Amino acid sequence: MDPVLTEVVQDGLAEVERNLHDVVQNEFHPVTETSLHLVEAGGKRIRPLFTLLASQFGAEWDREKVIKAATVVELTHLATLYHDDVMDEATMRRGAVSANVKWDNSIAILTGDFLFAHASRLTADLGTDAARIIAETFSILVTGQMRETVGPQPGEDPIAHYLRVIGEKTGVLIATAARFGGMFSDATEEQTDALRRYAEVIGAAFQISDDVIDIASPSVQSGKTPGTDLREGVKTLPMLYALADPAETRLAELLAGPITDDELVDEALALLRKSSGMDKAREILDEYADRARAELDKLPPCAARDALDDLATYVVARSH
Ligand code: IPE
Ligand code: IPE
Ligand code: MG
Ligand code: MG
Repeated sequence: MDPVLTEVVQDGLAEVERNLHDVVQNEFHPVTETSLHLVEAGGKRIRPLFTLLASQFGAEWDREKVIKAATVVELTHLATLYHDDVMDEATMRRGAVSANVKWDNSIAILTGDFLFAHASRLTADLGTDAARIIAETFSILVTGQMRETVGPQPGEDPIAHYLRVIGEKTGVLIATAARFGGMFSDATEEQTDALRRYAEVIGAAFQISDDVIDIASPSVQSGKTPGTDLREGVKTLPMLYALADPAETRLAELLAGPITDDELVDEALALLRKSSGMDKAREILDEYADRARAELDKLPPCAARDALDDLATYVVARSH
């Protein structure tokens, strides 16, 4: 990345990090401790990165608001992770024991709520447009989580259902991260729209690669327990494509419902890894990256646009 842009991004991310630590301070220490658990466990901070990179296109950036917006999107994401791990009965997150296991479900849910509350508090300083956007974003994200939990409606194509879910639960928050960057740097409406659409597609691709990783990668790499989707009975894109192959009879039997037995999870993972579903999911990833790049073409060439292009490459490459 361009050295000037690298410095802008590094400084910005460092400030977001300080904000994340600051907002969780509370006179009642247990809530600070449970909130800091995942803040300090790491995480890629990809959403703040989108905000910072997207803020490089406008005529003039309001640095304070950009940093605050970047903090808001990460806090919102973090809150959903606490809740998601309760729903998915996950045991590991960001390479650490998940909060629902380290403490319990109630503590994890309350910690998520606490983080949402602080995200809302910070958003109040960003104006009513930002408050409306983050509320709408959150409503769509929750709808996606609900749609995933309920599953496809009778007669609904499961792949169309999956693609809709990932757009909602993951794409839209990443889109808002980029949109905020445009909004708080006085970018034109066309540029902000292109940034938002680019990020929405990349966000969905990011979820597809995460779902491939859940099957393909060991926990040292992902920081999560492989096969979590199988254990929850959530059918992700590689599984849906694998199931479309009539030869995969054993896999179809295994994936008929949630798998609780460790040996059966391992058996299903082994079958999935060599199934055609993995390559097909990766092909869709390539398609998404191309679609995202088409949006980037609408932005003026600059170091930030190159960095966004690299981000598209990274999202595809991380699951190959
Ligand atoms: C995890 O998001 C949940 C998904 C939407 C795939 P990230 O992969 O961005 O998680 P962290 O923030 O790096 O832990
Ligand atoms: C994460 O969904 C999406 C949100 C938290 C909104 P997943 O359940 O697919 O992600 P991981 O694999 O647990 O990170
Ligand atoms: Mg999960
Ligand atoms: Mg989930």
